[in-house]
Amino acid sequence: MSKQILVFPGDGIGPEIVAEAVKVLEVANDKYALGFELSYDELGGAAYEKYGTPLADETLERARAADAILLGAVGGPQWDNLDRPLRPEMGLLKIRSQLGLFGNLRPALLYPQLAGASSLKPEIVAGLDILIVRELTGGIYFGSPRELRTLENGERYALDTLPYSESEIRRIAKVGFDMARLRGKKLCSVDKANVLESSRLWRAVVEEVAKDYPDVELSHMYVDNAAMQLVRAPKQFDVVVTDNMFGDILSDEASMLTGSIGMLPSASLDANNKGMYEPCHGSAPDIAGKGIANPLATILSVSMMLRYSFGQLEAADAIERAVGNVLDQGLRTGDIWSEGCQKVGTREMGDAVVAALRNL
Ligand code: NAD
Ligand code: IPM
Ligand code: MN
Repeated sequence: MSKQILVFPGDGIGPEIVAEAVKVLEVANDKYALGFELSYDELGGAAYEKYGTPLADETLERARAADAILLGAVGGPQWDNLDRPLRPEMGLLKIRSQLGLFGNLRPALLYPQLAGASSLKPEIVAGLDILIVRELTGGIYFGSPRELRTLENGERYALDTLPYSESEIRRIAKVGFDMARLRGKKLCSVDKANVLESSRLWRAVVEEVAKDYPDVELSHMYVDNAAMQLVRAPKQFDVVVTDNMFGDILSDEASMLTGSIGMLPSASLDANNKGMYEPCHGSAPDIAGKGIANPLATILSVSMMLRYSFGQLEAADAIERAVGNVLDQGLRTGDIWSEGCQKVGTREMGDAVVAALRNL
């Protein structure tokens, strides 16, 4: 039976990087007889332009029916002043929430060829392999009440709310422990339990879940310290589990350890490993349309799709090896370029990965 992949090119650099990832996906589809059928729709600003809303109801239904989703990125300055429900980012949050994609895996893996491209000293990052597990459908992103209004005294006032239920914490903690079990058997739970009630509950529930994982070494760290430790000694981490907002921030920070935000893929999974796959970066309006964006995070997100949603480990590994081979050839987009390497654009990078994958 064929598998349906729904593709959202999105906004800004989204269509440019997705075009390259789709080429790689199609080669993998042929080479490994995966039986994928691709179809396209719009999310974010592009959906607002086409349907008048960042996530149309019919699009959501197509997403529910698909076996997996590939997304570029959404957002851009031209939509920043729309009413909140119409903004591109709301389409993204809605699809995550509606599909129950609570488990967000963001691996920060340093390809050894890029040690010189990291903003940290090579010896600090050599061999880096961290997995950030971010809770994706709860916390301050979704809490209510939420408001922005003018008080009686004429002053503007805004409110967000950071709720977490025990069950939401328990299920993401399990993802963290399960991932740690498959890797280095170390889990660091990051919170702000010295200040926030939600974090106190988070810590207590993570401790309870830990009883089922005696083989995994659990530690806790406050988020401010974690942000510092990530650049001081990042290799102390194996798997990090944290809430929605802390995970958003720490994963962008971790991306620079790998050379660029253009290297960080992600998987957003539901309880049955159905998922949406997208780079961690945004639509990069500053470089959109120039053909210079790094497509590797999106290409590596395709690898994660094959691994997590379809169990196609050989094909998933092959894409990662193809990326490694291209880096061995010295090809670099601008964001990961260093002295002695050949600077290439988005399409050349995609073509090189396609060629390397064919040649494996
Ligand atoms: P961004 O990640 O788009 O860009 C930050 C910086 O990183 C920019 O200088 C950009 O040029 C660079 N960059 C990002 N991806 C790159 C790539 N593949 N290759 C080379 N350089 C790359 O973050 P931002 O500027 O804060 O946000 C821009 C827009 O993207 C906003 O509308 C934001 O809401 C949206 N956004 C969307 C997602 C998503 O769709 N998942 C994620 C983050 C931000
Ligand atoms: C991400 C993005 C999104 C988030 C925005 C665009 C809503 O930054 O995927 O990391 O904050 O989750
Ligand atoms: Mn982010």
